[in-house]
Amino acid sequence: FECRKSTMWKYKEFMPVNESKIVSLEEGGTPFCKCQKIGDKLGIDLYVKVEGSNPTGSFKDRGMSVGITKAVELGVDTVGCASTGNTSASLAAYAARAGKRCIVLLPSGKVALGKLAQAMFHGAEVISIKGNFDEALETVTSLALEGQLYLLNSINPFRLEGQKSIGFEVVDDLGWKSPDRIILPVGNAGNISAIWKGVSEFHEAGFIDDLPMMTGIQAEGAAPIANAVRKGKNSIEPVNNPETIATAIRIGAPVSAQKALRAIYDSNGIAETVTDDEILNAQKLLARTEGIGVEPASAASIAGLLKLVENGEVDKGEQVVCIVTGHLLKDPNTAINACTKPVEIDANVKALSKIINS
Ligand code: F0G
Repeated sequence: FECRKSTMWKYKEFMPVNESKIVSLEEGGTPFCKCQKIGDKLGIDLYVKVEGSNPTGSFKDRGMSVGITKAVELGVDTVGCASTGNTSASLAAYAARAGKRCIVLLPSGKVALGKLAQAMFHGAEVISIKGNFDEALETVTSLALEGQLYLLNSINPFRLEGQKSIGFEVVDDLGWKSPDRIILPVGNAGNISAIWKGVSEFHEAGFIDDLPMMTGIQAEGAAPIANAVRKGKNSIEPVNNPETIATAIRIGAPVSAQKALRAIYDSNGIAETVTDDEILNAQKLLARTEGIGVEPASAASIAGLLKLVENGEVDKGEQVVCIVTGHLLKDPNTAINACTKPVEIDANVKALSKIINS
């Protein structure tokens, strides 16, 4: 398997796949942008890893490349998942590439428009569930246990094997060292577990001397992990009716909660909650001061950072990497609703001049 560009397959020695079977859309190798302006304001050294630059616009592609490669190795004909949107968009694309039948379960009315368009357009059989993500996942997991499809939610360990490459790249992007802290949004809790696995593997291989404090951010209305960390507990109490504008992380019973708690505690990290308003403000701040457009869930990492600096939890001078997980265009409705409407004018220079000088 050869790839000209720098992608996550740069680290293929660390990926448990048969190289001749790899299904790839050249995922990973995403931008690593220094955010000088926000960083200076906060008194820290801030970088963001822009996962919206992946083929389908989210970090899910890393896990899906490995997951679908496994599906090909195993010779299954049907793959499936439950999703708040991005996982389904990614699976639909990779299943199409591998020629597999694809079934996705989505919580009715709670999936951002861009993600729904992707799942449908790549030819997945899209099923709307009258219920939330947690209920959709429970349902499709039962179907998978009956042997009717190969499940590609992050309960599938091969998904995490792909997503651990975010950890590899952050270390590589920084010149083979660990940042002080990695901050990311937490929903079903696969990604924080995966990134911790990645940096830990590089640590064990002797590539880095230190490890980052894994810092998970959840929306206030969907925060089982942050609640557990606040109480110092080793297990979560599920949130029954999770609610947040960041629909990607509208999850009450994360399947990888146990792994996520271990990552946070073992790395001396922390978890924090943010309100929907804080998320929307951070989304705008990142877009308008650094030019980086991300979806609401991704902005939770920035919102969390602002809060942790204010609380004194993040020290001055820390080197912090925020993982921004999905592209702005995933959720165009939320973006448009956060702005004032364009003004409409007659098509002449007088009208234009009047409006821009008013
Ligand atoms: N950010 C975005 C944009 C996401 O889509 C997700 C998860 C997360 C963060 C949280 O990552 O679940 O590994 O803790 N989206 C899943 C989905 C649940 O179905 O697309 P996590």
